Amino acid sequence: MTVKQTPLLVALLLCLSLSACSQQPQKTDQLYLALGAQAGLEQLVDGLLLEIEQDQQIVHHFQDTDIPRFRRLLIEQLCELSGGPCTYTGATMQESHTGFQISQADFDNLVTHLMTVMQRQKIDIKAQNQLLALLAPMYKDVVYR
Ligand code: HEM
Repeated sequence: MTVKQTPLLVALLLCLSLSACSQQPQKTDQLYLALGAQAGLEQLVDGLLLEIEQDQQIVHHFQDTDIPRFRRLLIEQLCELSGGPCTYTGATMQESHTGFQISQADFDNLVTHLMTVMQRQKIDIKAQNQLLALLAPMYKDVVYR
């Protein structure tokens, strides 16, 4: 291997080892536990729903949504993503957000609400960042579909 190729290989290996580079569920349940397991995720999603309800910029997207179903699927998805004992049974992010014309600002609002709720629940900052890193790559499937 040439000297020139080495940094590229290091970057690739680093990327493969970071969860932020993939949307694969975590291999351990460490993050799931740090988020408070099932009860913690339920509290998180309920808090997020309250924030959404009060946000005039994004609440209109949910006017025809079956909220109990959305709640169940989001909990399920976050559980699977964080390494918990769940299997997400909803639609793909691309399928479920197509036709809503969600803007970048809308996406940012939702993420800000999630951060507010995680902060309120006193979730460890490392776990907060890990969850955000898992959600960030979904941006491309959610915005302007
Ligand atoms: C990473 C960020 C996001 C995640 C993880 C996420 C997750 C989900 C999940 C799991 C569902 C249910 C899928 C199904 O019905 O099978 C869903 C639906 C939905 N999401 Fe998101 N979402 C995200 C961002 C957003 C944003 C930014 C908005 C708008 C501000 C939004 C609006 C909606 C709406 C309106 C539905 C319901 C669609 C319907 O009623 O059929 N989502 N989302």
